[in-house]
Amino acid sequence: MSAAVPPASVPRHVAIIMDGNGRWARQRKLPRLKGHERGAESVRSAIRSCRDAGIQYLTLYAFSVENWSRPKAEINGLMRLLRTFLRDRAQELHDDHVRLRVTGRMQDLPAAVQKALNRVMADTAAYERGTLILALSYGGRAELVDATRRIAAEVKAGTLAPDAIDEQTIADHLYLPDVPDPDLLIRTSGEMRLSNFLLWQLSYSELYVTDVLWPDFRDDEFQRALAAYAGRHRRYGGLA
Ligand code: FPP
Repeated sequence: MSAAVPPASVPRHVAIIMDGNGRWARQRKLPRLKGHERGAESVRSAIRSCRDAGIQYLTLYAFSVENWSRPKAEINGLMRLLRTFLRDRAQELHDDHVRLRVTGRMQDLPAAVQKALNRVMADTAAYERGTLILALSYGGRAELVDATRRIAAEVKAGTLAPDAIDEQTIADHLYLPDVPDPDLLIRTSGEMRLSNFLLWQLSYSELYVTDVLWPDFRDDEFQRALAAYAGRHRRYGGLA
């Protein structure tokens, strides 16, 4: 547990919009992929920070549905990075008893990436110390569309009455219904946007935006975000 943050104020679930890889590379006159490579090192750092702080869930926005419109070479590079990450970091997940899960339209990913993800997910499925969730081919609106389709199918089959649909029904049909909503959303590189990330789940999350670019976001920055969270007073719409 980090000494800087009192245990009771540690978020259970942190979600991160990892932005700024391209800008980091551009500032150094490097190809964008170099920024993503450096970003993958920050991913490793964030996983370690969560482990050390006792944070149970870490969700990383690694590839959005919108990212499919990027140049093919960049998409291929990101997919390659993902496979390298899974190959090189699987042992650390084992050592730390961290379970890997995916949220998003995983079926859209290249077969080799799906295979690598499925292998690590199956190998780590029993771990309970922490959960790393990679949002891949993920869109918040797409998730709500997919949930709505499944709810509509149940209504059509006669197993669900329209009047019985409430907020819990929606929550139960999201990609990972058993995962608690994020307590803290971190966004790097200064943009004040949600960018279609976890639209339902972020309703009451604390937001922390830093100008630091994702490749530079290491443990000292993570501790700053945790300290800011610890100073917040969550009201969930009430007055308390
Ligand atoms: C945003 O930066 C970042 C992404 C679209 C991809 C995130 C990917 C990684 C951090 C690397 C690999 C991930 C894993 C899980 C191993 P941007 O390209 O939009 O930056 P910009 O806004 O400065 O152009």
